[in-house]
Order: sequence, then structure tokens, then C-alpha cells
Amino acid sequence: MSVTILDHALIQHKLTIMRDKNTSTYIFKQNLDEIAKLMAFEVTRHVSLKDKAIETPVCAMLGKEMDQQIILAPILRAGIGLVDGFRDIIPTAKIGHIGMERDEETLIPREYYAKFPKGLEDALVIVLDPMLATGGSANMAIENIKQRGAKNIQLVCLVGAPEGVKAIQEAHPDVDITLASLDEKLNEHGYIVPGLGDAGDRLFGTD
Ligand code: URA
Repeated sequence: MSVTILDHALIQHKLTIMRDKNTSTYIFKQNLDEIAKLMAFEVTRHVSLKDKAIETPVCAMLGKEMDQQIILAPILRAGIGLVDGFRDIIPTAKIGHIGMERDEETLIPREYYAKFPKGLEDALVIVLDPMLATGGSANMAIENIKQRGAKNIQLVCLVGAPEGVKAIQEAHPDVDITLASLDEKLNEHGYIVPGLGDAGDRLFGTD
């Protein structure tokens, strides 16, 4: 398993705009879309390909086409924010939604909603969640997606805390993690520092 930080200049530039508390919901979403496209480009680098015979205007040739179904699995609700950018780059991707919430008494995350396309067993499943904080929700979402049959899972988050990365690495050593930034820590309220605040609120204007 691996942890990849995409510290590309464009991504870091756009992420800084997102982090700024004075950035509007509209500009926040616009930059998230743009970063999601750049991340989609990277995480699909090794998707399996098969030969495809075509004819260019000049001659016949063996080209390539993707040989693997990609299923995007946004964790509700903030994960939805990464879907548009990924879909722009991978228009054949199918989408499975998974909703996780914390039980108010036990604080253990639980699944409250899930709907997945068929074919999880053979697909590359890309779990999307902008913020990897404690890793509790992502861990359980990945566990539940595995129980539905998925064998090839990647986790893509915008910003991660070391605590969340460690939790995923321990629970799911087979899952590669891709981040735009690995931040410093979690604060006492469970926010990533420096982070960008509550990603769902900033994305949907609910703060
Ligand atoms: N979820 C968020 O939206 N932001 C954080 O900083 C941590 C968890």
C-alpha cells in the first residue's frame, strides 16, 4: 500500500484558494472541481488497458482502451464534491453512494445509506472524501464496500491528517491513499489543522 501526496504546483495553488476562509462557496467548488480532475488523472495512471484496433486517417493501428470499470464511491455528503471533477475525466465511471454518520452515543460511525452499481468485484473502486480526519468514516466505508465484494480500492482525499492516514494504513493495508496535502494534526474539535474547515459546509454553503 502507498500514500501519495500530489504536491503539484497547480494543486497546491488551488488548494490554498480553497483553504482561505474568505473564499466563496462558488470559488471553493470551482477549485475543488479543478483539483479533482488533476487527482483523477493521477490515480487512474495504472488502470488496465486492452488493445483496440482502429484506423487513423493514415493507417490501421492497435490503440488502447480502458479494460477496467471504474466506480466512484463518494462518502456522503462532502464526498459528492469530488464527483464532478472525476466524472469529467472518467465519463464511463459509475457512481456508488455511501452515507456514514456517527452514532451520537457510541461515536462509532455507521452506514445510513448505500447504493452501488453492479460489478464491484472487478472494478477499481475510488472512495472519495475531501477530508481524512480520524479516518473513522472512511475506514468503515471501505470495510462495507469490501463486504459488498470490492477487491481493488483506492482512497482519494483532498486533505489528510496523520491520524487518519495511520488509521487507514492499519485497517486496510491493501488500500492506496492519495492526498493533495498531508496536514499537521487534528485539533480538539476533530478539525484538520490547518485544513480548510468543514468541507461539507463550505461546499454546500450550510455554515
Ligand atoms: N471534516 C471536515 O470537513 N473538516 C475537517 O477539518 C475534519 C473533518
